[in-house]
Amino acid sequence: MSSPEATGRDPLPTRHSVRASQVEMTELVLPNDTNQLGNLLGGKLMHWMDIAMAIAAARHSGLVCVTASVDHIDFHHPVKQGQVVVLQASVNRVFRTSMEAGVKVFAEDIRSGTRVHTNSAYMTFVGLNEEGVPTASPQVIPETEEEQRRFEQALARRQKRMG
Ligand SMILES: CC(C)(COP(=O)(O)OP(=O)(O)OC[C@H]1O[C@@H](n2cnc3c(N)ncnc32)[C@H](O)[C@@H]1OP(=O)(O)O)[C@@H](O)C(=O)NCCC(=O)NCCS
Repeated sequence: MSSPEATGRDPLPTRHSVRASQVEMTELVLPNDTNQLGNLLGGKLMHWMDIAMAIAAARHSGLVCVTASVDHIDFHHPVKQGQVVVLQASVNRVFRTSMEAGVKVFAEDIRSGTRVHTNSAYMTFVGLNEEGVPTASPQVIPETEEEQRRFEQALARRQKRMG
């Protein structure tokens, strides 16, 4: 394992903990990302969400992770050009070769310093080995109450998802 200096992250999260998978991604909403009203395009935000969660899944598993499914996504607040989007992603639960990741998205206004929670989403990723074959990953270890709640709810979501 590389040293904290090498990764720039907090030292020594428990191996396979949810915290070890955590990703915080920060993006600036530029004109090319917006519609005619200056609001962030939903597709652009979904792209960022996919990337943040795919990195969390890859960080946990050490594998290339592909998106297998996307749960329902609601957009509660428009995000304006010039705002900063902060995406916080982590792995909620591993099933076998697949795992559920979640992301919380915030829109930050640089001038006022306010941060609004705009939406959250869950996606399922599958870890692939170098031959492109689905490969099992170790279970994630929830350490906080919130992580434990997400871990439990992820199983119910999987059962609903898979019918
Ligand atoms: C995801 C993918 C690897 C699954 O392959 P597969 O041949 O169905 O593999 P398996 O049947 O062995 O299933 C592997 C895992 O994927 C899960 N899975 C497959 N389809 C799924 C779906 N629609 N939703 C959630 N999980 C799914 C299975 O439950 C299994 O999970 P488990 O091992 O934790 O129980 C394959 O469908 C694929 O490569 N899809 C394209 C991925 C991609 O390109 N994504 C970007 C799209 S733009």
